[in-house]
Amino acid sequence: GGEGHIEDFDFSFEGPFGTYDQNQLQRGLKIYTEVCAGCHGLKQVPLRTLSSEDGLGLPEDQMRAYAETYEVFDAELDDYRPARPTDHFPANTGVGAPDLSLMAKARAGFHGPYGTGINQFLKGIGGPEYIASLLLGYTGEEKTEAGVTLYENTAFPGGWISMAPPLYGEDVDFDDGHDNDLHHEAMDVAAFLMWAAEPKMMARKEAGFTAVLFLTVLSVLLYVTNKRIWAPLK
Ligand code: HEM
Repeated sequence: GGEGHIEDFDFSFEGPFGTYDQNQLQRGLKIYTEVCAGCHGLKQVPLRTLSSEDGLGLPEDQMRAYAETYEVFDAELDDYRPARPTDHFPANTGVGAPDLSLMAKARAGFHGPYGTGINQFLKGIGGPEYIASLLLGYTGEEKTEAGVTLYENTAFPGGWISMAPPLYGEDVDFDDGHDNDLHHEAMDVAAFLMWAAEPKMMARKEAGFTAVLFLTVLSVLLYVTNKRIWAPLK
């Protein structure tokens, strides 16, 4: 029982100056598409955002071609048609798997100690760490309870999950021959799901940096101004 064991991975997007790794996000999309999408959906993510420069940066034609691999129901046509860039990734409720659009922000990898949340302050909330640890956390033990097969997993709270191990390593091949062992695949798809949940992370960090810089300069100016104004009276 209790909280699971979460590994602290080094993701490229951590820290105040961290950025998404475009190639990693593209590998994550491939893993998501070929493995996870069989059971999960990403219904809050618009397909056109796959072309965002601070995300996957897919060329326009590739993004369109990818969109067209999905069928969506069009109420006006009263029929199915290939998805367009303005459509979202489809939902998938077939086997009761939760939607993954916001999963990287819905789960925390780090807690405590003793409910203080200090670990989150030092290491971040840990959503992508939780997802990667979950994919790596299967022990191989199984049991059946009330007709449901459960798989032992060291990251899942409670220790038993109904999702069968989705990745074993070498589940997908990359055009550039990039490593596809289980550890790399888990990190790549976790990074992709972080992007799905927070596509504007880079813009947010940039705005934060600009604000801190601006406020620092303003503080210096105010300090100097204040000195000057009161100088004759001192
Ligand atoms: C649950 C990720 C593939 C079926 C989950 C959860 C995550 C996840 C993060 C939520 C765990 C939680 O509640 O904390 C992934 C990823 C996949 C993948 C990244 C691809 C690499 C699959 C596949 C299936 C599946 C292929 C079906 C064969 C489920 C089910 C649950 C679940 C049924 C609910 C489990 C429970 O609450 O006991 N998955 N999944 N997933 N997934 Fe997957």
